[in-house]
Amino acid sequence: MRGLLAVVVTAVVAAGIAWYVGVFDGKDKTTLANVTSGSSQEAVNARVDRMKAMAKALSEVSKAAEAGDISGTGENAQTILKTANDIPSLFPAGTGPGDPGVTKTRAKAEIWSKTDEFNADAKKLGDVATKIVAASGANDTAAMTAALGEVGPACKGCHDTFRGPPPPE
Ligand code: HEC
Repeated sequence: MRGLLAVVVTAVVAAGIAWYVGVFDGKDKTTLANVTSGSSQEAVNARVDRMKAMAKALSEVSKAAEAGDISGTGENAQTILKTANDIPSLFPAGTGPGDPGVTKTRAKAEIWSKTDEFNADAKKLGDVATKIVAASGANDTAAMTAALGEVGPACKGCHDTFRGPPPPE
């Protein structure tokens, strides 16, 4: 009975993450594609690429958890942790909306006026990512499922506050 419950919970969590990542996948194609501009825009593009890579890594880890075999998730878990840790440095001053050379970004100006709050949101994701890395290392699917359940809110918490709507096509 508990085994069945674990499977059901894993499936529900994985479906939730798949949905969440899918939402990004749909938007990715229309947001910052084909941008050619100065170095500020390149910094924006670079962080968007890092975010996308993190979303992909997360999706692969959640698929593995859903399949009940997380033995090969070490690298993707590290990608999530490293990206979370790098978030503060991926948003240097001068790469926000309206800054010279920035033609397209969903970053809100509040990132630079409420930087402590932004960095705290990054740390929340880092804390969850640390659990993901630990669960992967211990090959503990139950711990992984629990950690994955905390990821969506950690992404969303920051996006709701600090990410604007996708730009028009
Ligand atoms: C501390 C804040 C923060 C956290 C935590 C965070 N993001 Fe983001 N994310 C942003 C911001 C801000 C942008 C917009 C960057 C830009 O356009 O310059 C963004 C952009 C993205 C993008 C690029 C596509 C788009 O919508 O513009 C993806 C994909 C993404 N995030 C996925 C994730 C996932 C998955 C997680 C959790 C594992 C996550 N993010 C956690 C702040 C965050």
